[in-house]
Amino acid sequence: MESSRLLIEGGRGIEGEIQIHGAKNSVLPILAATLLCGDTSCIHRCAGLSDAFAAMRILRSLGCEVSHEGSTVTVNSANAEGDIVSDGLMHEMRSSIVFLGAILGRVGRCRLSFPGGCELGPRPIDLHLEALRWLGVKITEDHGILDCTVGVRPQSADITLSLPSVGATENIMLYSALGSGETVIRNAAREPEISDLAGYLIKCGAEISGQGTSTLVINGVSELHGCEYSVMPDRIEAATYMGAAAITNGELMLKGINPADMYSCMSVFSEMGCGVYPYDDKIFISARKPVSAVRTVRTMPYPGFPTDCQPIVMAVLAKSSGTSVIVENIFENRFMAAPELRRMGANIKAEGKVAIIEGVKKLYGAPVRAYDLRAGAALVVAALGAEGQTQVSNIHYIDWGYESIETALSSVGANIKRV
Ligand code: EPZ
Repeated sequence: MESSRLLIEGGRGIEGEIQIHGAKNSVLPILAATLLCGDTSCIHRCAGLSDAFAAMRILRSLGCEVSHEGSTVTVNSANAEGDIVSDGLMHEMRSSIVFLGAILGRVGRCRLSFPGGCELGPRPIDLHLEALRWLGVKITEDHGILDCTVGVRPQSADITLSLPSVGATENIMLYSALGSGETVIRNAAREPEISDLAGYLIKCGAEISGQGTSTLVINGVSELHGCEYSVMPDRIEAATYMGAAAITNGELMLKGINPADMYSCMSVFSEMGCGVYPYDDKIFISARKPVSAVRTVRTMPYPGFPTDCQPIVMAVLAKSSGTSVIVENIFENRFMAAPELRRMGANIKAEGKVAIIEGVKKLYGAPVRAYDLRAGAALVVAALGAEGQTQVSNIHYIDWGYESIETALSSVGANIKRV
């Protein structure tokens, strides 16, 4: 279905300041975690994202009372007995698999459909299921439906993940927080969002240590209580706006961000020749000259360069002097922005995990299409630095992860409107 589109007139320098919202990839697992408390939690800095609204619908379908006022979401999970996440709801949000651990932890049973493979390639959940089975959960998979029932949980479980999966780490944390037994996760994801989820759970009474390192230890407790919690700022949203400043030779003050979450992003923008100045809760970026190529950008698990920023950086490097190489090590199919950027005059060859970007002097506005969340954001960034008008369609993908991207960008001088 043809959703609304963004019309962008490029060529204007971005100048001003943007207040960064709460992180999408933190608020989703934290909303799932509110199921475990059995009373009321207030979550602040919940951005107005379609993914967040989908998570609220899932919580309501499980029997929670959910209301939101501005960026504060209140969840009362006292009467949450649900153990089924409908097919429709599962398909609305790719990352709804993170509800599995929370529902099992709360009601002991869960039936949901596999989250469909998405634009980034198949989204396997084998590590999630392997870990939960290791924790005694009985799981049958039949025609894409997962039917899970908790069994006898070992007094101590020592789980080593074959790759530091963010979602698998979150599901194990959510399942292990309640109940009795010690769970050790080795090769755990170290993303700041993991530490944020741990922060919320600890405030609810959970016993967790090691968050932010590769070894997490969770000691199950008999009950958790609700709390007030403010979600960490969105480092990927911040990196997106840094890209907008870089490609338009503008300058931006990003407020309400934690620079400590962004060293690998900041260093890539510095290597492009941007001035990047971190303060305690803000980052100033100045790009007063055309960006230069970056030899090689490799996406890696945190604290390496985040895969979510890769399409954004591809767009910025498309209009630069010199040749850059991007190696995408996390997802199989995450160069969806490349063909659309080529329609705007970019010279990008994407082959398997590697993309070669020959920087060009100019990009030109063109009708382009978003095929996934961050590729869509990359097209918006490219359009800001292109000559003429760009139409970006399929922007419902962008609304998954950005609260009204056009409002933020217009506020710093971009000529962008939603039609
Ligand atoms: C989270 O996805 C984020 N989503 C993604 O952000 C982010 O790109 C990703 O972490 C990596 O940082 C949310 O937090 C909601 P993974 P997740 O499990 O948990 C493979 C965005 O744009 N894998 O760390 O799905 C997987 O296929 C989104 O905001 C398995 O093979 O990421 C991928 O190739 C996109 N088996 C790699 O590991 C599994 O059981 C990393 O996946 C699990 C994952």
